[in-house]
Amino acid sequence: MRSMGTATDIQVRAALPADWQEVRELCCESCSEPPFYLTGNEGWPTYGQEDWVDYSVGPEHAMFLLFDRSTSPPYPIGKARISTANGDPTTAVADGIYIRAAYRGRGLSKLLWEARITWARVHELRRITTIHRLSNVRSMRSILTQGFVETERIPAETISGATEPELVYELVL
Ligand SMILES: CC(C)(COP(=O)(O)OP(=O)(O)OC[C@H]1O[C@@H](n2cnc3c(N)ncnc32)[C@H](O)[C@@H]1OP(=O)(O)O)[C@@H](O)C(=O)NCCC(=O)NCCS
Repeated sequence: MRSMGTATDIQVRAALPADWQEVRELCCESCSEPPFYLTGNEGWPTYGQEDWVDYSVGPEHAMFLLFDRSTSPPYPIGKARISTANGDPTTAVADGIYIRAAYRGRGLSKLLWEARITWARVHELRRITTIHRLSNVRSMRSILTQGFVETERIPAETISGATEPELVYELVL
């Protein structure tokens, strides 16, 4: 088992084109945790290097990566994405937050939120929206801790065909 770094060893930064393999690894690993993950990831299995770079780096979106720097090279332990909303120049959409299981419950989701909130402010956006499935309590707590307010519940199907609401949140900047 890996030894884990202390809080001061953990760093968050925006993904660079050279990080595409780390992004791919974290994204693909996150898909193995249904039913929390929603639609939008269907193309991932066929993505090549250029697709992963486009997905991570661009003028209207960013991928943030969390690293444990107690090892060399630093070990990637989480990721989260933010983008401007389609057709709405005032709003950012935050999605795809994932922290490797061994690193959960240490308050590290805050770092990925702070990086994305800063990104939205720098881009002069007015609000951030995000969603989670009702049963995903860890995600709910992580979102609420940042000051997000629930705006809507949308009925949605789980992978197994059951119904479970998606909760929609907004953070006004
Ligand atoms: C969602 C996720 C990023 C949150 O990160 P985390 O490391 O688990 O959570 P943190 O330690 O940063 O804590 C965030 C909040 O969740 C709470 N929390 C942590 N572990 C918890 C658990 N097992 N049960 C309930 N709440 C929990 C913390 O207490 C904290 O809330 P608080 O500030 O009110 O105390 C992480 O659990 C994850 O990657 N889950 C799998 C992927 C996923 O579900 N992504 C979200 C899709 S919408």
